[in-house]
Order: sequence, then C-alpha cells, then structure tokens
Amino acid sequence: MQGSVSSLEIIILAAGQGRRMASAKPKVLHTLAGRPLLTHVLDTAMALVPRAVHVVYGHGGERVPAAFPEASVDWVLQAEQRGTGDAVRCALPRLADDALTLVLLGDVPLITPGTLKTLCARAADGIALLTFEAHYENQYGRIVRDDQGRVERIVEWRDADAAQRALREVNSGVLAAPAAHLRRWIPRLSATNAQGELYLTDIIALAVADGVPVATASPGDPTEVWGVNSRADLAVLERAFQERQAAMLMAVGVQLMDPRRLDVRGQLIAGRDVQIDVNCVFEGRVELADDVRVGAHCVIRDSRIARGARIEAHTVIDGADVGPDCVVGPFARLRPGTVLGGHARVGNFVEIKAARVGVDTKINHLSYIGDAVIGQGVNIGAGVITCNYDGARKHRTVIGDGAFIGSDTQLVAPVEIGADATIGAGSTVTKDAPAGELTLSRTAQKTVSGWQRPRKQARPDKE
Ligand code: UD1
Ligand code: CA
Repeated sequence: MQGSVSSLEIIILAAGQGRRMASAKPKVLHTLAGRPLLTHVLDTAMALVPRAVHVVYGHGGERVPAAFPEASVDWVLQAEQRGTGDAVRCALPRLADDALTLVLLGDVPLITPGTLKTLCARAADGIALLTFEAHYENQYGRIVRDDQGRVERIVEWRDADAAQRALREVNSGVLAAPAAHLRRWIPRLSATNAQGELYLTDIIALAVADGVPVATASPGDPTEVWGVNSRADLAVLERAFQERQAAMLMAVGVQLMDPRRLDVRGQLIAGRDVQIDVNCVFEGRVELADDVRVGAHCVIRDSRIARGARIEAHTVIDGADVGPDCVVGPFARLRPGTVLGGHARVGNFVEIKAARVGVDTKINHLSYIGDAVIGQGVNIGAGVITCNYDGARKHRTVIGDGAFIGSDTQLVAPVEIGADATIGAGSTVTKDAPAGELTLSRTAQKTVSGWQRPRKQARPDKE
C-alpha cells in the first residue's frame, strides 16, 4: 500500500438529507442488515486502521453523532449542505499535512477494505478514483476520458449532455488523494452547476490542469459501490448484502435451502452441516453448532444453539441457550434467560422465560414457564402455567428431577415441587408439593343423576 499506512486519514461524508428517502430520519441512520448505513462504512474505515476518521454530519443535527456514542471518530459539522466539495472543505482543517486522504460516502455502505487498499495504493503520486461500469440506467457522475484514455474530468449526471450521459464508466464517489492536494483544489471549487453546489468531483479537472496524475481503480464486486438514494435502492442493497452473507455461510458448510431467503442482521456463527430452511431471520449474535437444523420461518436473536439441536418451523428464540439435541417448536417461543439442557423438548405454543430446564425434560404443549428452575427428566403436561407474577413482583417455581406435572396445572409461585412428585391434572398448586408423592387440588368429581339441561322454549311462530 501507498507510502506509510500510518498516514491514512478517512473522511466520511454523511451530512446530506437523503431527500429521496422521503423520511424524517437522516439517511445514514437508515438500516441495512439491522445496522445504520454509517455503521457499515465506519466498520470498513476502521478495518483500514487509519490514523483518524473524520465524519462530516449536518442534516438531522446531533442525531447522527448521538447514534454512535462509542465511535472513536472526529465529528465535523457541516452546518449547511452545500455539496460534497463543501463537506470535504469542512474537514480539511482537521487533516495532518502529510495525510493520505480517503473520502468515503455515508450512503455507499457495501464497499470493502480490500478495494479501498487497492485504491489508496494508486493514489501514490496523485489522486485515485474508484470508478465502475454501469450498464443500466443511472444518475452517477460520468467519467470523461481523453482520446488517450486519460481521465479528464467528472461530469455530474444533471450537468451532462446526451453524449456524456451515454458514457458507461461512472463515479463511485470514493476517492483518495494527499491532503496537501485537497487543500489546494477545494478552495477553487465553484457552484456554477445544475445543483448550485460545490462538487467534490470538480477537483479532477483541477488535478488534470495542475498536471497531477489521476488513476482509477474498480471494485472487486460491482455491488460494493452501489449507493443508497431511495428506499428502492436500500432494498436492493439489503439483498446484495444478504447474498454476500449467504455465500459466506455456504462456504463454511451451511446448507441454505434458498440463499435468497435468508436474513442475517448481525453475526451468525455456524458450524458444519447446519441446515437452514427458508425465511429465517437471525439478529444480533447467534451461534449454531454443528448439525443444527433450523426449520422455515424462525426468528433467532442473541442465542446459542448447541450441536444437533432441531429448531422447528415458526419458532422465535431470543436470548436463549439451547442444549445439544434439543427439539424446539414448531411454534415455540424462548425468551431471554431460557437455558435448555440437552435433549430437552419444547413443543408447540410453549413460552419460556428466565427458566432453566434440565436434561431430557419435556414441555410439549401450550405452556407458560417463567422464572423457573426445572430439573432433569421432568414431564410438564399440556397447558401447565407458572403463575410467576402477583401484580407487583415475580416469584420463582422450582421443580425437582423426575417430577410429573399433570395437564392444566397452575403452579402459583413461589412454590417448589419435590423430585419425582406427581401433580394431578387440573390442580392449582399454592403450597410446596413433597417429593415422590401425588399432590392434587381438584374438587372431587360428582354426578348429579337425572339432572336436566335447560331447554329453550319453542316459539309458536316457529312451529
Ligand atoms: C455523488 C457524486 C457522483 C457519484 C455519486 C456516487 C458529487 C458531486 N457527486 O453524487 O459523482 O456518482 O455520489 O454515489 O460528489 N453530502 C454531504 N454534504 C453535502 C452533500 C452531500 O455530506 O453537502 C454527503 C451525503 O450525505 C452523501 C454523500 O455526500 O453521503 C453523497 O452525496 P449525494 O448528494 O448523495 O451525491 P450524489 O448525487 O449521489
Ligand atoms: Ca448518493
């Protein structure tokens, strides 16, 4: 890479409104794969280990810096958005004299560090532009070359004539140049153009006039330089990003039933022979160990699924730890603080929150288990509910190993069920139940013989 990498300083332009998004939110705060556009650009910038990152913000005011409290960047205010050239002007006083400056756009989020390294290397003795061929209708700036093929200038789409608009090589908006050059050219920009703005792109013609060489580089993958100007663009970039992630997952041995129907909004760490059916969404940090199978339409957030576990269709898992060889779902919901031991079985319409469930325990149908500690080999019948909340506080339910809780039982916490205890179906358990015994709270069944069900009077007009 050019000279010393240690001289690299990055400017990220993020002050624009993004009018075409038709949103009250500053454009760079719109999310791609669950994270703001600017986060993607910041991560890429940081991967280059620059000496400094200057982020130019403006539209939306302090909302932009406030959204990144942890970022160690230099926030530069561009009070009035007078164009990309003006945005760079705002950051110029912050640059060291010897800096190689890389300009990134806050609305071009898929750019990769590899492409940027190549670009910076080309800025060795002048300016380097990242350009690409666009064989579809677009409004990017056009790269105008002379008959020797040397870059002459960039013409913005709105200022271009028909012949220039027909040019296929376009400007990604990303460029690298020594700070010393930018300091000479930026003050010479003028706003005599279709948009009445100071265009950063006009420095190219100034460089050519000064005899400074203009080099170009292209991205490895064309999606890297796609910009977000509208909601439609954002949707297209989202898919491009997701396809990239799907490809990476398949490369490490994950079987995706349809790579186009996967959404990873965060980090998905997957072992070998993991199988993921269609339309699953992964959020935050999710770990799927070897041989895990995830059925269709599951949403899994900030959770760990151990080896061999099966998550059946339509299951929602958030902040849970699922042990090896468990079977969860279909239609189950595991909420934060759920820890399932190995081989546990959680069936349909079961909700579990802040509960530890032991090895081999079964909670198969229609239950709510909250704030509980359940031992091993326990059988929880259909419709069992822990009444954990008294309107003010949460209370704990403890169930010993081998217990059998009959269907439709309410366990009114705080309450403890001893090991191997049996609770008769339909009980309301308000006191601790001893180990090894049958406890039930049903009223005795009786039959009223000869009882008649009331009948409706037959109406005369219906006769
Ligand atoms: C820009 C380029 C165009 C290129 C395209 C690639 C210029 C004049 N044009 O056009 O050649 O093909 O990007 O995506 O540079 N911004 C500021 N302050 C401002 C204006 C803009 O910070 O005063 C920021 C925006 O927030 C945005 C970026 O600069 O992140 C680009 O601005 P935008 O208005 O979207 O430029 P384009 O018309 O897309
Ligand atoms: Ca843009």
